[in-house]
Amino acid sequence: MWELLTKATRFLPAETAHRMAVAMLKHNFGPRPIAPNFSANLRVRIAGMEFDNPLGLAAGFDKNAACFNGAMSLGFGHVEVGTITPLPQLGNPKPRVFRLLEDQAVINRYGFNSLGMEQAAKNLKATAGQRLGVLGVNVGANKASVNPIDSYRQAVKGLAQFADYITLNVSSPNTPGLRDLQTQQHLDNLLVAGLNGLKDAGFEKKPIFLKIAPDLNHNDLAIIVESCVDAGVRGIIATNTTLARPDFLTSIHAGQAGGLSGTPLFSAATGILADVAKLSQNRLALIGAGGVAEAWQVYAKILVGADLVQLYTGLALEGPKMPGRILSQFAAMMDADGVATVDKIKGQICDPIAAVQHSQALFRGI
Ligand SMILES: Cc1cc2nc3c(=O)[nH]c(=O)nc-3n(C[C@H](O)[C@H](O)[C@H](O)COP(=O)(O)O)c2cc1C
Repeated sequence: MWELLTKATRFLPAETAHRMAVAMLKHNFGPRPIAPNFSANLRVRIAGMEFDNPLGLAAGFDKNAACFNGAMSLGFGHVEVGTITPLPQLGNPKPRVFRLLEDQAVINRYGFNSLGMEQAAKNLKATAGQRLGVLGVNVGANKASVNPIDSYRQAVKGLAQFADYITLNVSSPNTPGLRDLQTQQHLDNLLVAGLNGLKDAGFEKKPIFLKIAPDLNHNDLAIIVESCVDAGVRGIIATNTTLARPDFLTSIHAGQAGGLSGTPLFSAATGILADVAKLSQNRLALIGAGGVAEAWQVYAKILVGADLVQLYTGLALEGPKMPGRILSQFAAMMDADGVATVDKIKGQICDPIAAVQHSQALFRGI
């Protein structure tokens, strides 16, 4: 039934299908993963938080913290809500989301459509105490902000009390100038602003993560890693969507403006993650995102150094049974590899090509 429903929604514009999915999960309508039948222990501990499993829903699906418990019921160990901006804003004109079915990809230029932090805080308050997993709150600046760096401080201050962790999103390609905050010139000030937001709210011990773009070079990454370590940022999420358009895309929507996500992003995002892992030498928690649609891709990202892995586009294209399917296949891969806990996989194969080969071989064997 869920496969049919997902296929039927393809006849709707992508944004309408997205709204419907949020409404369904808000009412807790979705498949429940079957009880696990494997010996592997999927629990992960990072930055003082305990996750039931390494798989999370990436930011951008539950932009206003309206349905994260429903999303967690699909099997995710954590959900990252947002991006939430301090003030409400409409985002870019529609249409602004496009499915590239032939390429198993999406291009979006939502541009931080957000009901704002006050509405998000209301939603989060109403569900405090009923959380089914770890909750991340991803924040960003309003497009019209005259002081974007201070917008991050305000959003962190307003939302920290509801979050298990906070993410500073400086990697969306759809807000002009936002990605410049990843550069040396602005980064230290941005990180200090985020940490000051935590202090202002009285939650300085809460972990804060930085989410980065896949379109960065090795030198940019080295600066980002050292700035994060020096400032006391606890982790990096690699990566957001890409501005690149690989030559092999075949969909008619490939030329749309915005950020590309899904399968065509997997290699670049995993390469960036591997580079960040080498540079950080276990000084930061790492969350891999970008192009995950199969369990071997989760395994490969953890092999190169991720503690956790997030996905979004795969869920939008395959439907709500995906997290349960991926997690049981992932656990079967762990059994086949003879590893009992996820931390025994982390960082075992630093080279992304070798990590993919190992993961694909394991996956074929399960
Ligand atoms: C429609 C759409 C909207 C997104 N919105 C956000 C957002 O608001 N904030 C953010 O940090 N990332 C956003 N992302 C990026 C995802 O969180 C994720 O980093 C990226 O899509 C790569 O993962 P995927 O290939 O599994 O989708 C969005 C992605 C999509 C497809």
